[in-house]
Amino acid sequence: MAQTLFDKYGGVPVVTDIVRDFYKRVMRRPNLRRYFVNVPLENVIHHQIAFVSMVMGKTPHDYSGRSMKEAHRGIGITSASFELAAQLLSDTLVAAEVEQDDIDAIMKKVASLRADIVEK
Ligand code: HEM
Repeated sequence: MAQTLFDKYGGVPVVTDIVRDFYKRVMRRPNLRRYFVNVPLENVIHHQIAFVSMVMGKTPHDYSGRSMKEAHRGIGITSASFELAAQLLSDTLVAAEVEQDDIDAIMKKVASLRADIVEK
């Protein structure tokens, strides 16, 4: 079985650092923070973990029974917000010294989820 990027970059400990950094970058942006104002902090952290882990090769079933479409229905995520979140993830991965080819693959995966997440 092919190794996932999640495993290649050290699994939970390394991905935890990536998640922390990504979380900080997202929460510094009012444009992204606003989606999480009424979400309990625990769920917000869980979200960042799910976001990073999923696009690095873990399946959604490890995190939630809901499909990406169901999970984001009614939130009203805009195209600009999606782009910004993707950009911040890419910045985080560069800072974590993830190889460029792998970043490209991750961003492709992010882009493939776009239609299920963006509503506006
Ligand atoms: C590829 C991109 C993304 C992935 C893989 C992803 C992943 C997830 C997952 C797995 C859940 C469900 C969590 C659960 O039910 O346990 C979720 C919910 C949610 N997502 Fe995303 N997400 C992405 C992009 C975004 C973006 C760009 C935003 C807003 C800026 C966002 C905001 C939310 C919110 C507010 C929830 C509901 C949280 C709650 O009520 O607990 N997501 N996402």
